[in-house]
Amino acid sequence: TRKQMEARIREIKEQLGEKLFIPGHHYQKEEVIQFADVSGDSLQLAQLCATNEKAEHIVFCGVHFMAETADILTNDQQKVYLPDMRAGCSMADMADIFQTDRAWDALTAMFGETIVPLTYVNSTAAIKAFVGKNGGATVTSSNAHAMVKWAFTQKERILFLPDQHLGRNTAFDIGIPLEQMAVWDPIQDKLVYEGALEDIKVILWKGHCSVHENFTVKNIVDVRQQHPDMQIIVHPECSREVVAMSDDNGSTKYIIDTIEKAPSGSKWAIGTEMNLVNRLIQQHTDKQIISLNPSMCPCLTMNRIDLPHLLWSLESIVNGEKVNVITVDEETTKEAINALERMLVRA
Ligand code: 13P
Ligand code: SF4
Repeated sequence: TRKQMEARIREIKEQLGEKLFIPGHHYQKEEVIQFADVSGDSLQLAQLCATNEKAEHIVFCGVHFMAETADILTNDQQKVYLPDMRAGCSMADMADIFQTDRAWDALTAMFGETIVPLTYVNSTAAIKAFVGKNGGATVTSSNAHAMVKWAFTQKERILFLPDQHLGRNTAFDIGIPLEQMAVWDPIQDKLVYEGALEDIKVILWKGHCSVHENFTVKNIVDVRQQHPDMQIIVHPECSREVVAMSDDNGSTKYIIDTIEKAPSGSKWAIGTEMNLVNRLIQQHTDKQIISLNPSMCPCLTMNRIDLPHLLWSLESIVNGEKVNVITVDEETTKEAINALERMLVRA
């Protein structure tokens, strides 16, 4: 039963003590997050894994790319586990390394050595290694503005992988006009743009988050009509139109902090993953909070981590079986760490 599973997890946590570390992303289910040693956004969790030297076993309650990042940032003795190998990220899967190599060849033929690559941490280790090798850095939604500004101190153009929306919203905020942004389509191997080629400053990879694309202009129009006094806050993985029509936007941490600071009685429609919105609704009963999309938007892959998978993963550690260990090879780690460190020293 659920109670028995919870009791056993508590027992294992006690038994392993500081040898075990369970980071949990804000989008994880309540049944999982209750056992997380820390909950955080992508940036916080990466920082915590990088500085934790005591844990021998890191059971990552999040998605595959986060576990890979944890493995890259920890030492060889520390093992990282993903409780369910099917917990991937559809956005990360939208940029594979072969497509990226082809894009890089084509783009450097067009623009010469004027481009620095940036990748959202929501990407495979191979993409992070590609970016590291080419002088670029990773970004998260918490530090995207600072990292895009940094990139422009390196080269005159950036290639932003794999989320076109975070890239476009961030570049727009720092003053790059939309006409100076182009989109690289990895299916057709084609650059799509409107103005003059030489004016292009930002090349956006044509990828997106299948959760945040569900928040639409229509959702905003409906909320404005039905609740005129409600403020709308969304994650920058939402489209430019949705972000532009909202009152505010920011990373999961920014959304949480904003709701915490908001006065009692304030009213909010939130455009981000369902588990986080539900948690905020439960924690802030003095505020009126709804999901911007009334049908709620779960991240199906995040949700694959549940109580039985967490317990199964912990039991396997106790039994010395080491299943679902996420290992990034040495070569990839060496390059990817450069991309991550260029971000972490500035974060
Ligand atoms: P952050 O935790 O950086 O806000 O990212 C949101 C997300 O989609 C994680 O997969
Ligand atoms: Fe990937 Fe979007 Fe899910 Fe985050 S919310 S893990 S970006 S699919």
